[in-house]
Amino acid sequence: MYADKINKLNSLRTPCYVYDTQLLARTLDAINAETAAHPNYHVHYAIKANANPDVLKQIASAGLGADCVSGGEIRAALEAGFPAAGIAFAGVGKADWEIELALKAGIGMFNVESVEELAVINELATLLNTRARVSFRINPDVGAHTHDNITTGRAENKFGIAKEQMVEVIRSTAAMPHIDFQGLHFHIGSQLLVMDDFEALCLRVNELQEELDNAGLYAPNINVGGGLGIDYEQPDEHPIPDFHAYINTFTKLLQLREGQQLHFELGRAIVAQMGFLITRVLYVKHATKKQFVIVDAGMTEIIRPALYDAFHRIENLTAEATAAADESRNAVVEYDVVGPICESSDVFVKDYAMPTTRRGDILAIRSAGAYGETMASGYNCRPLPCAHLI
Ligand code: LLP
Repeated sequence: MYADKINKLNSLRTPCYVYDTQLLARTLDAINAETAAHPNYHVHYAIKANANPDVLKQIASAGLGADCVSGGEIRAALEAGFPAAGIAFAGVGKADWEIELALKAGIGMFNVESVEELAVINELATLLNTRARVSFRINPDVGAHTHDNITTGRAENKFGIAKEQMVEVIRSTAAMPHIDFQGLHFHIGSQLLVMDDFEALCLRVNELQEELDNAGLYAPNINVGGGLGIDYEQPDEHPIPDFHAYINTFTKLLQLREGQQLHFELGRAIVAQMGFLITRVLYVKHATKKQFVIVDAGMTEIIRPALYDAFHRIENLTAEATAAADESRNAVVEYDVVGPICESSDVFVKDYAMPTTRRGDILAIRSAGAYGETMASGYNCRPLPCAHLI
């Protein structure tokens, strides 16, 4: 389906990322359509998923807020046109300069992850003679059906404040004139495909809200984080995630109090499917037990397979485009597709059926728009990949 468009880019230097801005536009429309009936729902885009400046501008102009986890992300968000008031700043280890930057910019919310951090924010806000709007990230102790490395809401994870401490921490803010208590924040994990996980989160938030009621406390904002997953197996069948099922889960189950604002922080679901990592075949190596397709992209361009055993569909665009004229392309062969990096884990996929592949073929690694370019590294002194928008 994308072969035509991408083959036009044949002359590009590889490896490179290609982003489909039309799909991004349709995805943003789908989100806005789901939240349109709920003026108290606010979606913040998690910048960590893809911080390409043009991508950020497109998302900002669709009216979303931003979820940032560093000073650099706050700067990128502001430069792209996200209003400061729509920025939430999370992270277990906010440095002093980052807190100062956020206070001076007047961001909408600090999602505070410890009492120690709260004390520092209060101190810096006092020095700057301003008030920090603060939500507490509560560790809900809710598991999630995903890879261990991307669950965040269990008691043993480093994130958030224990739910048992919630009331005490909120009460402590009464004595801090430079802290403005604004709400609760949660995030249980990423690449969640079953709504049960979000349902469990809703039930836990309802319990915690009852505790707040009993303590005579009110949280104007509830932020349920992100985590909605995407279909890595069949990106063309499901280019846009089921935002309806996702948003509806919260509408149905979450018992919001009068006037409460509900915030979401989606990353992957917004940008994953619009991204392609375009790579060229350097060699097809016929080894004794395996046939290796060695490409010019590696774990330096997309680390997800090496880090999380993640699957990304791979398509041979050259073979697709020439299949009609070249019979030999119709044979299907099982290959291990690997990168050039000096690490055994630099493997995209093993025993993967693809049309007969040759040196020089252009391959597309699909669903690479989230946590691809942003997690790229310069290991082996490789240049960072560039990105093109189509
Ligand atoms: N909010 C918070 C507090 C987060 O920590 C995250 C992601 C998000 C929102 C957005 O989550 P999403 O909607 O994208 O699932 N590098 C990993 C994913 C790490 C996610 C980290 N936190 C991967 O490639 O799968």
